[in-house]
Amino acid sequence: MGWKTLDDMELAGKRVLVRVDINVPVEDGHVTDSTRIDRIVPTVTDILTAGGTPILLAHLGRPKGKPVPEMSLRIVQPALESALGRAVHFIERPSRDAIDALPMDTVVLVENTRFTDMEEKNDPMMAKFLASLGDIYCNDAFSAAHRAHASTEGVAHLLPNCAGRLMAEELAALDAALGNPVRPVVAVVGGAKVSTKLDLLGNLVSKVDHLVIGGGMANTFLAAQGIDVGKSLCEHDLADTARAILQKAKAAGCEIILPRDIVVAREFKAGAASETLSPDACPADAMILDAGPATVAYIETVLSSAKTLIWNGPLGAFEIPPFNAATNAAAAVAATLTKAGKLTSVAGGGDTVAALNAAGAAADFTYISTAGGAFLEWMEGKDLPGVAALNG
Ligand code: 3PG
Repeated sequence: MGWKTLDDMELAGKRVLVRVDINVPVEDGHVTDSTRIDRIVPTVTDILTAGGTPILLAHLGRPKGKPVPEMSLRIVQPALESALGRAVHFIERPSRDAIDALPMDTVVLVENTRFTDMEEKNDPMMAKFLASLGDIYCNDAFSAAHRAHASTEGVAHLLPNCAGRLMAEELAALDAALGNPVRPVVAVVGGAKVSTKLDLLGNLVSKVDHLVIGGGMANTFLAAQGIDVGKSLCEHDLADTARAILQKAKAAGCEIILPRDIVVAREFKAGAASETLSPDACPADAMILDAGPATVAYIETVLSSAKTLIWNGPLGAFEIPPFNAATNAAAAVAATLTKAGKLTSVAGGGDTVAALNAAGAAADFTYISTAGGAFLEWMEGKDLPGVAALNG
């Protein structure tokens, strides 16, 4: 842990540039889920309490380097004000003079950093300009730390820097789950495609004791073992890769857990007629949409003797019931064990959090990351530029 925290900085009288991730879902000009906004409140409040001025830098969406009115951070301003319980001063075109003219206890929100292409190019001129706006740089955007942008990486090198409360919390939780975990460790990895999670699986097999593979990805592994998966989502061209991962796991002493029973249907829609079969019995005209109860029972056994769980991705087609059953049941087991103090459970990734929320299990997990892509890259064992820059 080479970075400083807010506690290491002299904040009184300082303008503190805070990179936050308030990239929240918006519909018809309104924020529909304020989780990411709520999670930056401690950092902003602590800076104010210490007598500093928080100047928030953030992006919204992917405007591709141009101003897009639907992606203006003005849209987020009311939700931010309600989370903070105070007014927020929005600045479209920031300058140091404009910021210095504001009372010290102002919360400043700067317009979408991605409204210029200099941001994503990590242009040194933009980093320099951003640095001119503040005295200290604080990165509280773990979920954007996989991007080497001017506001997440470049500017960090130009000012005294530190991690915000949320960044520090995320890093501590992830370290407890995969960096220095209490063993045995179980990873649950689901999702549609193996191709998007190859690096992840490759890294995990050498780090965890049990790896549960679910969702469409599991079909590729079943097919790689010569099992006919009918019309299931399956990346047949990745059979060799899947076999290599199984080999690597074996060599590393990691148990790979694939579905022990499958739930199949002939239509991909909510409420489609389904049946539970053995994994090698998928009819030619059917597709595997979920793991069955025998799989869940085995996952329960494994989780019951585990100490740590890291979860990314649903086990089945969780968005169309009843094919959310395995995800819900396994999530409920993890939640119960966590609540009983027997398991440290950490989850992250867009679909994952949605699935655990829908299962009603998220609140009982030890930690739910706000990150999607960054969580994945961190699980892949990659260095996140936004975090690495804080170590300088
Ligand atoms: C996210 O939503 O995961 C972060 O805000 C990063 O967004 P991006 O994928 O557009 O860089």
